[in-house]
Amino acid sequence: MRYDFDQIIDRSDTNALKKEGWREYIFKDPEGKKTFRFRDEEFIHMWVADMEFRCADEILDAIKARVDHGILGYSTVYSNAYPDAFAAWCERRYGFTFNKEELCYSPGIIPALFQLVGDICGPDGKAVFQTPSYGFFKHASTYNGCGMLFNKMIYSHGTWELDFEDLEAKCADPSAKVLIFCNPQNPTGRAWTADELTRIAEIVEKNDLYIISDEIHCDIRRAGVQHIPMGVIIKDYPKLVTCMSASKCFNMAGLQMSNILIRDPELRATFKAADKLAGFLNPLSIAGMQAAYESGEEWLNEMNQYVDENYRYVKAFLDERFPAVEFQIPDATYLAWVNFGAVLPAGTEVNDFFANNAGVLIEGGDILFVDNAEGFVRLNLAMPRSSIMTAMQRIDDAIRQATEI
Ligand SMILES: Cc1ncc(COP(=O)(O)O)c(C=O)c1O
Repeated sequence: MRYDFDQIIDRSDTNALKKEGWREYIFKDPEGKKTFRFRDEEFIHMWVADMEFRCADEILDAIKARVDHGILGYSTVYSNAYPDAFAAWCERRYGFTFNKEELCYSPGIIPALFQLVGDICGPDGKAVFQTPSYGFFKHASTYNGCGMLFNKMIYSHGTWELDFEDLEAKCADPSAKVLIFCNPQNPTGRAWTADELTRIAEIVEKNDLYIISDEIHCDIRRAGVQHIPMGVIIKDYPKLVTCMSASKCFNMAGLQMSNILIRDPELRATFKAADKLAGFLNPLSIAGMQAAYESGEEWLNEMNQYVDENYRYVKAFLDERFPAVEFQIPDATYLAWVNFGAVLPAGTEVNDFFANNAGVLIEGGDILFVDNAEGFVRLNLAMPRSSIMTAMQRIDDAIRQATEI
């Protein structure tokens, strides 16, 4: 490999959410009143979805070159260089084309969701989404005072499927205004097939709903799995919003820049008018994102190969040590969604259990994944293999001690 994914990088003193923000995010305890059996420096951080890997040199070099220019004044995207790089990436990698006028920017997909859900639903509308769910689909709805309709996915022996019958019913609710759709899905790691996407599209069109397709995880996938953007399936449907960014897949979420493709001109105008940043972007983010799309592919391919191997390791470990845990390697994301419900006592609060007994910070259960997540734990595998090996051994020890297997 050209890039070193085994390197352990200490993120102390970098204001990293993963390292400093876990008490507040996972345990709602910003003041650190809750005590743990492990010291801070002993924890292994398998929680929030960013990577422990160094960014591609191509990205870092582009940012350094922009810094070397010496002036970092107000900026946004004026030239065609950035939109061209993003459009070429989409066309080459997923056969997806879009009109450049649809391209809007946001500091992140989270702020875009907060804005869009409010714009679309108004005070009386409801958002439909699959559960278990990325927590911010709920937070964006709650923030806007919108109702929610949960379309529970169906779990069977380590795999997750959509419940289309239930989805039809939820989307036909007269107050439903938008489907927030995660493709690939966080936390289950499902990459949706063309058939599944077509059925979703039919339901959305039949009920005249908006669809926000959150595709932030689109380039992290197992060998041989293709990403199919919703925009390829519903080519002309005007109520589609597609959210993409190089942030997640290239480990630069801190740069805070994302692409929001809004087809409907009216919704686009509302979205832009509400932009609290008046359309400005961080010049270093533009440089980094452009470099990712222009010259980050080799790093991305190697990162995916490394994560493939991490998955194989975790799968073999779980199969050997915990045959009752039915884990299947997902199609996409670097997030293993593991059902420890079979080996932990009923009602175990998994976030607390793994922090206190294994010194491993994970996210799991309904508290963080909204609904339909009881007993499930999300393990972030975008980290050096040696850290994963230590974490898995600690998880094994903790479960054995707690359950006397
Ligand atoms: C499905 C999904 N959407 C959005 C985000 C966050 O997006 P951003 O960092 O662009 O706000 C995440 C981060 O984990 C995610 O998993």
